[in-house]
Amino acid sequence: MDRRARKFIALCASALIGVYGSAVQAELSPQQLLGKFLFFDEDLSEPAGQSCASCHHPDAGFADPDTHLPVSEGVIPGRFGGRNSPSAAYAVFFPEFSYINNVAIGGQFWDGRAANLTEQAKGPFLNPVEMNNPNKATVIADIQASSYVGLFEQVCGPIVDIDAAYDCTAEAIAAYEGTDELNKFTSKFDLVMAGQARFTRQERRGRMLFNGRALCSQCHLSGGMMGRGGMGGMGGMGGSSDPVLFTDFRYHNLGLPKNTEYPLDQQPANSVDLGLGGVLGVASENGKFKTPHLRNIAMTPPFMHNGLLKTLKEVVHFYNTRDIPGLWNPPEVAENVETRLLGDLGLTSSEEDAIVAFMLTFTDGYTPSGGSGGGHGHH
Ligand code: HEC
Ligand code: HEC
Repeated sequence: MDRRARKFIALCASALIGVYGSAVQAELSPQQLLGKFLFFDEDLSEPAGQSCASCHHPDAGFADPDTHLPVSEGVIPGRFGGRNSPSAAYAVFFPEFSYINNVAIGGQFWDGRAANLTEQAKGPFLNPVEMNNPNKATVIADIQASSYVGLFEQVCGPIVDIDAAYDCTAEAIAAYEGTDELNKFTSKFDLVMAGQARFTRQERRGRMLFNGRALCSQCHLSGGMMGRGGMGGMGGMGGSSDPVLFTDFRYHNLGLPKNTEYPLDQQPANSVDLGLGGVLGVASENGKFKTPHLRNIAMTPPFMHNGLLKTLKEVVHFYNTRDIPGLWNPPEVAENVETRLLGDLGLTSSEEDAIVAFMLTFTDGYTPSGGSGGGHGHH
């Protein structure tokens, strides 16, 4: 049996039982199943060897499993993108990008430059620092040579027009990204909200701070009594309220310093990442990046668009102490820095720890008996 055939059978099996061992897995539609094949297919890069999952791996919360680098390496060794890989899980909940009355909401990527998941999925195949195909035709040719070409034609029709086939490819990937396999809502947080588990004393203290004095829920909406999110917080478990995603879907400049570690140090010395402002060409948006959801956050270090902060403790410490002189380097983009909601929160070290403990409950795969709430709950 050749490599492709073995991989096809392995993927079929994993599609039936779920790649990472979840016992009950909703059945995927043909389009979603096609999207899964495409998402995990390492033959769709040029040369072969990199799939979407290489930088968005299930075991790493659908972010980059390589935590040593602040950014991700493409299929060509030594080529790096300029930003940290975010999670592809729960991305489906960001609404379509809009910019109305000077307020940007939703969209994909740290800077919102793709309107939605379908538009996003068209990018990586052709990006020289990612999957490096010279054009759409090479991607479609690889699909034509794949073991799942029959399923592709069932979903997308016979391959006659390259553009149409490419669009259908992106739609299938987006459909897969919308399934339960990426959006599980099985964290300790969800179970507690559904009345099926209890926070520890430290986690409860962290939640109070997150929703209260530490101001986190002002941007990472938590459905809590003091947050701005929907009340009740049934997670995604079928309650009537909106699922809790820990984001306001908006853009802010946190005043993060430039990251000068390798390979970002290869960029021109005076290069500045303008984020949303660079996309819109609007100076009042310079330095702003999308508020990420915090689901599975313990699994996706390093943190922030430039991977500057390595641990959750360091993240909370940054919010807590950014404005204390001498502690942090100046912001990469000094305009539009958010000053109201962070910078000098006056939290003690044990309060910082409690907020971290609360965020560890956002990891999917929690089991009430013996589960830790943090780490890889599905093992
Ligand atoms: C080489 C690593 C790499 C590969 C391969 C890759 N990505 Fe990404 N992905 C990234 C990085 C880095 C970003 C953030 C880039 C930015 O914001 O400018 C990103 C962003 C995203 C986002 C946006 C999430 C959000 O919250 O904004 C989604 C969704 C996504 N990728 C899905 C995919 C899909 C689907 C594929 C395959 C077609 C893919 N990625 C291939 C590194 C990668
Ligand atoms: C003003 C809005 C705002 C507030 C307040 C806020 N955040 Fe954030 N948070 C963001 C934005 C925006 C980002 C991404 C910034 C970037 O990368 O440039 C972010 C990023 C993060 C990340 C990294 C996510 C990742 O995928 O890398 C964590 C963790 C986090 N915030 C936790 C917190 C905690 C804990 C608090 C309270 C102590 C908090 N945030 C307060 C807006 C906010």
